[in-house]
Amino acid sequence: PGIRPLVAGNWKMNGSLAMASALVGALKGRQGNVDLLVCPPFPYLAAVGAALAGSKLALGAQDCHADASGAHTGDVAAPMLADLGCSYVILGHSERRTDHGETSGMVAAKAQAALAAGLTAIICVGETEAQRNAGEELKIVEKQIVESVPSGANAGNTVIAYEPVWAIGTGKTPTAADVEAMHRHIRALLKSRVTGGAGMRILYGGSVKPSNAAELMAVAEVNGALVGGASLKAEDFWGIAEGA
Ligand code: G3H
Repeated sequence: PGIRPLVAGNWKMNGSLAMASALVGALKGRQGNVDLLVCPPFPYLAAVGAALAGSKLALGAQDCHADASGAHTGDVAAPMLADLGCSYVILGHSERRTDHGETSGMVAAKAQAALAAGLTAIICVGETEAQRNAGEELKIVEKQIVESVPSGANAGNTVIAYEPVWAIGTGKTPTAADVEAMHRHIRALLKSRVTGGAGMRILYGGSVKPSNAAELMAVAEVNGALVGGASLKAEDFWGIAEGA
């Protein structure tokens, strides 16, 4: 109760400068009852940051390195993101865990770096379809949270995003009852392990659309959404924000 929802758009590796400016232009004047966040690809962060200046939209990135600087060709450090005006960074997305072999230990190290840079870490967790079919989803997600959330995490600097891997970009979503069971499990875990865990946001992600947002966002212990595909169109993203 009392947790203000966050609706976060993860653009993934999509868009262009023109698309970014059109999308932010369409969103920036709007003010709903939720916090709105856009997470463009690295090359567009500066332009999007400039375009959303003075608005209520927050800026975030999709990854960061665990070190604050150094010889890591191609990587981006958390203080650089803070420098550009980012207030959030998505970490441990299933696509990073799969494409780049990120383990929960690596995610915790990145999150530690993000917190040290003053960013809010959005730590992603979620089971695969095989894990759900085997009835292991609560256990898998619990292990990911235990291993990915760093010490020092609190309700103000960390957000959990539950994204069942099989629901990402597929149009499939869990039932409201399944989302509730998972989010209640995560809440209990956060309460027992994390400072202020009762107030930490727990987002749902995976095929959130304007047509299902209100139902998903009404589920107990769901405090917002992490949106992929539908965050690339202003009207869809706004439609989700209105449902939250
Ligand atoms: O980070 C966002 C999620 O992976 C969800 O993606 O909304 O395209 O299913 P989606």
